Amino acid sequence: MNSAAYIFTLFNPASCQYFCLIVVLSIIIYCTGIGIATTFLILVFACVWMHRKLKKIEEKEAKKKLFKRLLQQQLSSGKGSVFETKLFVTKELEKATDNFNESRILGKGELGTVYKGMQSDGTIVAVKKSNKIDRDQLLQFINEVLILSQINHRHIVKLLGCCLETEVPLLVYEFVSNGTLSQHLHDDPSAGMITWENRLRIAAEVAGALSYLHSCASTAIFHRDIKSSNILLDENYRAVVSDFGLSRSVAIDRTHLTILVGGTFGYLDPEYIRSGQPNDKSDVYAFGVVLAELLTGQEAVSSDKSDVGLVIRFLSSMKENRLFEILDKIVADEGLEEEILFVAKLVKRCLKLNARKRPGMKEIAAELEQLRRIKEGSIDKQNFQDGYCSISEKSDFCNVDLITEDTDE
Ligand SMILES: *[C@@H]1O[C@H](CO)[C@@H](O)[C@H](O)[C@H]1NC(C)=O
Ligand SMILES: *[C@@H]1O[C@H](CO)[C@@H](O)[C@H](O)[C@H]1NC(C)=O
Repeated sequence: MNSAAYIFTLFNPASCQYFCLIVVLSIIIYCTGIGIATTFLILVFACVWMHRKLKKIEEKEAKKKLFKRLLQQQLSSGKGSVFETKLFVTKELEKATDNFNESRILGKGELGTVYKGMQSDGTIVAVKKSNKIDRDQLLQFINEVLILSQINHRHIVKLLGCCLETEVPLLVYEFVSNGTLSQHLHDDPSAGMITWENRLRIAAEVAGALSYLHSCASTAIFHRDIKSSNILLDENYRAVVSDFGLSRSVAIDRTHLTILVGGTFGYLDPEYIRSGQPNDKSDVYAFGVVLAELLTGQEAVSSDKSDVGLVIRFLSSMKENRLFEILDKIVADEGLEEEILFVAKLVKRCLKLNARKRPGMKEIAAELEQLRRIKEGSIDKQNFQDGYCSISEKSDFCNVDLITEDTDE
């Protein structure tokens, strides 16, 4: 049959119903096809979306677990028995810090932001939240948990606990109310002028804390980031050493935690920069810089680029016999000449280029404590009340005694 004949048969009334049937069937098939295809496409999209969503949730969970796992790993490889910090719940900390409201920020560091938090029982805490979530930062947080959970010392910040539920780890500390030593010395000196006695006491307390870390904790711990902005003060100007993110205990060093050449410009031990080998004398150097800050009220490094830095300025002023020109006014007014010279010489010894010639922290702590006691004697005569806690108040020292010069004398 040729095509013309075929077309004719289609218009033939008899075959018309077939034709209609075919058309209807095609339409049905066509529509069903679209329906199936659309359904199929929707299903495919839904699957992809679900998959992505699940993956995100999984990643979130994985990150949470990473912190937990790394922490457990470190604990099992070290001395896990010392771990006693409380585990906080996320909700608790969100409530305490008003959802990490900016108005609660106490300080911002390289590593994390610290918020002021009020717990439901009214106690105030400081909550540190990591800025980023990468492995290095996690490890630094874990490091801090590990180090601080081994320590219970009046002049070292207390870690109350941590929160492992969130992606970013949260660490909870005791709240130290009066800001940092750096703020008092440099930012607004008139806000909280620190008297000479308080400066001496702060120096002795920090030295005591470092001496404890170096020789009294179960394994030697090097702080590695001593600076005036890491020394907190409470309302009685009690000094509290904080920020142990870079600290290393000798035991931890033997495991696989990455060593970061850390520290802060202006406080860095030149020998440590050269060798890359952290040791106790690098803390001594940094402590020497803090002592120089206490004497002069000047910053370790100023924003002025042409500035040679406090260390060089201080040492050259001593060499040229014009130390009294660079002293802070309060120090010059209140300090006795022999006291100031004693501390200045101590600074010089701490800043020696050859690390081996620097005194140990224990020796420094003992010397400063002795100076303070002599001064305390003279204060008593004048019936001076300052309200600071004497270091002999052993009952306040929680369960670890500071090594004081009692054992050395
Ligand atoms: C943060 O706190 C301030 C003051 O308490 C408040 O006015 C503000 O609404 C809070 N912001 C958020 C995002 O909750
Ligand atoms: C520190 O405490 C003193 C009183 O103890 C107070 O006058 C001063 O304002 C406080 N400074 C800061 C920065 O909180």
